[in-house]
Amino acid sequence: MDRPLKIFSGSSNRPLAESIARALGLPLGLSETVRFANDNLFVRYQESLREADVFIVQSLVPPVQDHLFELLMMSDAAKGASAHRVTAVIPYFSYARSDKKDEPRISIAARLVADLIETAGADRVLTMTLHSPQVHGFFKIPLDHLSAMPVIANHFAMRLEDLENAVVVATDAGGLKRASQVAKRLDLPLAFIEKERLSDREVRARSLVGDVKDKIALIVDDEISTAGSLVKAAETVLGAGAREVRAAAAHGVYVGPALERIARSPIAEVAATDTCPPPDPLPEKLTVLPVGPLFAEAILRIHKGESVSELFR
Ligand code: R5P
Repeated sequence: MDRPLKIFSGSSNRPLAESIARALGLPLGLSETVRFANDNLFVRYQESLREADVFIVQSLVPPVQDHLFELLMMSDAAKGASAHRVTAVIPYFSYARSDKKDEPRISIAARLVADLIETAGADRVLTMTLHSPQVHGFFKIPLDHLSAMPVIANHFAMRLEDLENAVVVATDAGGLKRASQVAKRLDLPLAFIEKERLSDREVRARSLVGDVKDKIALIVDDEISTAGSLVKAAETVLGAGAREVRAAAAHGVYVGPALERIARSPIAEVAATDTCPPPDPLPEKLTVLPVGPLFAEAILRIHKGESVSELFR
C-alpha cells in the first residue's frame, strides 16, 4: 500500500517546516493550535490522516514546555486519527543537557522527555546534533540523528580563502568529538577550552589546549544559548594569539544576553542552522545555515524505508 506522506508543523518553527515541505514538493498539512482562556492548549488536524505517514515538525525552543506539550498533543491526536506512523521531527531537542544525574535529587529530564514523546504516540524521532549522543539511548523507539557538522564544515570551506591557516576550537572537552568531525573534514588541527560552568549564564575558561597563535580560530559548538561559552572561548583564543575568530553552532537558541554578548564580542561571524527560528531582524554578525532540504531528504528516505546514514557518507 502506498501510504501518503504528510508534513505538519507545530507553532515553534513554521518557516523550517515550510522549507522542508517545499523541498519535498508537498503542501504543509492543515492543523491548528488554540490556547484557551484557561491556558489549556487545543490541537486539531483539519484533514484526514488515516493510514498516512505523518511527520510533525516541532523544535523545542522557548517557551519549551508549551512547545513540548503541543508536540505531545499533536502526536496523540495523529495516533487517535488513525495515522499509520507518526514521526516526531525535533530539529532542536531541548533538555538534552539534562542527560545525567551529576547531583543528588535531580531529574534526568532528557530521559523523561523521551518517555513522554513515546507515550504520546510517536513511532519514530528525527533530530539533529543532540548535545550528547547518549540521549539517543533514552528512546526505545527508532531515532535518526542528523549531524549539522558537515553543514558547518561546508560553510567554513566556502567562507574562508586561507582555510589552511585555521584551527577548529571546541568550547569545552565535551564538544571535542563534534568539533573533530569539522576539523577532519577540513583537514585542520584541533584545540579546546577547559571550561568551568559557574552558573546557567556564566562560564570560566580555565585553560586552552592546543595551538592557536596567528591562526583563524573556528569555534564549533552544538548550541549557542546565552553565548557565554562562545564569547569566553573567543576571548581565550584571542588572548592566546589567534588573529581572527569565527564561530558556528548547530543550534542558535540565542536566549537572554546572547545577542548583546555577540554584538559586543570580537567575533567576526557567528553561523547557526535554522533548527531554531533565527532572530528577526537578523543581526549583522549572524549567518543562517538552512537545513530544511537536509531534513526533507531524511524524511523522504524514512518514508521510502531507505538508509538515512547514507546521507552522511
Ligand atoms: C555545553 O555543554 C554546550 O555544549 C554549549 O557550550 C552550551 O550549551 C552553550 O551555552 P551558553 O551559550 O549559555 O554558554
